[in-house]
Amino acid sequence: MTLLKAVRGTRDLLPPETELWNRVEATARRVFARYNFGEIRTPLFEDTQLFARGVGEETDIVSKEMYTWEDRARAQSEKAQSLTLRPENTAGVVRAYIEHKLGETGLLQKLYYIGPQFRRERPQKGRYRQFWQIGAEVIGPPSAGSESPLRDAEVLEMLASLLDELGITGWSLVLNSVGSSSDRPRYIAALREALAPVKDQMSADNQRRAETNPLRVLDSKDPGDEAIIETLPKIADYLDDASKAHFAAVLAALDACGVPYTVNPRLVRGLDYYTRTTFEFTHGELGAQNALLGGGRYDGLSEMLGGPKAPGIGFAMGLDRLILTLQEAERKAAAAQAAVAGVPLLADGFIAPLGEGLNTAALEMAKELRRAGLRIELGDGAFRLKKSFEIGNKLARAIVLLGEDEQRSGILTVKNFATGEQTKIPRGDLAQALKT
Ligand code: HAM
Repeated sequence: MTLLKAVRGTRDLLPPETELWNRVEATARRVFARYNFGEIRTPLFEDTQLFARGVGEETDIVSKEMYTWEDRARAQSEKAQSLTLRPENTAGVVRAYIEHKLGETGLLQKLYYIGPQFRRERPQKGRYRQFWQIGAEVIGPPSAGSESPLRDAEVLEMLASLLDELGITGWSLVLNSVGSSSDRPRYIAALREALAPVKDQMSADNQRRAETNPLRVLDSKDPGDEAIIETLPKIADYLDDASKAHFAAVLAALDACGVPYTVNPRLVRGLDYYTRTTFEFTHGELGAQNALLGGGRYDGLSEMLGGPKAPGIGFAMGLDRLILTLQEAERKAAAAQAAVAGVPLLADGFIAPLGEGLNTAALEMAKELRRAGLRIELGDGAFRLKKSFEIGNKLARAIVLLGEDEQRSGILTVKNFATGEQTKIPRGDLAQALKT
């Protein structure tokens, strides 16, 4: 019988690793509470239409990566319904916002979630088919301040604090503005125009996107198309005054609260709902899949799903990737610790008294050499010669043999472990010889 294994791209999380997961989740909950976010739990599967409309038909996620099936709603006879395992949680949160009329409170909804998402991607380090996200969304009617650049800066500052509190150092924040629903059409028209004469030289996927959703050409990973993509117009040149002012205000607020960032005019992100601010936090430790988290504004998403005007901004952090980064940092810290505690630094010399009668003479010699600034290990006259050599080899770069002959003549036998060379050295020259 063939053994059953976890499905490709999925994995079991076992103790003690799960302790780290729990610690990270607890830290996230603590930080979210300080910013007054509440938890939302939406279903793991939703009507396929939610993602098709929300995330966008032409995105990689919807066109290739979703786990979708026809499900009979109640009985055999009933019409089948297309359902999908959630590939992300923003569309589900906005659906719940609309369904439960949360906008009617007139307040901002600040919601966070922690849970699995599903995408049929090619598995590799940091990329799984079932992966976890810690995410949060701030959404509400414009009268509650949901459009304000202050919200963007507040979310980004919260993320910087969360990463700091988790002990993640070395992250970079990259951001961009992809414009509002009014300046996006002008940019897309310009992209179409620029793509028209060159699209035939591009991959089949990009030829199709050039027609159906040109913005998606920008986040294509096809290396053959990169040179053409570089020549395409940049969205920054198509932002209207309001979008430019919004982005400038986000950057100014980040400067004011000391969150470091860089602006990348090519960052459009792979989901269609984004407007204005988009961002990613990356980490060098992660290799190819270096996005620790991504997010942005989605001012039109609620309306795209048939809801009221409800601008919003949010992010999702790849929990699997966060854990990888922390484990790497822990591994490095443990290695650094070992260099000090477990495996001592190599001493300049190991003094080996040949017989217990020479112990005090060896102690005195060690004292002299240490006072001369050398790092010295002292053996024991009870050790056999072989044992002295074995220990000396682990602890020092050279061994100094102190037998009765040596004591009498004042000429010592020194063996350098690295070169294997054995020499006779007068006591007065010993410190100098061991230093080199
Ligand atoms: P996303 O960029 O598709 O955005 O995913 C967010 C994060 O989830 C990524 O930066 C990455 O860390 C992690 N992630 C994505 N796919 C995988 C995978 N296959 N394996 C492991 N980790 C993965 C969203 O999902 C948006 N909903 C974020 C958002 C919230 N925007 C606004 N609000």
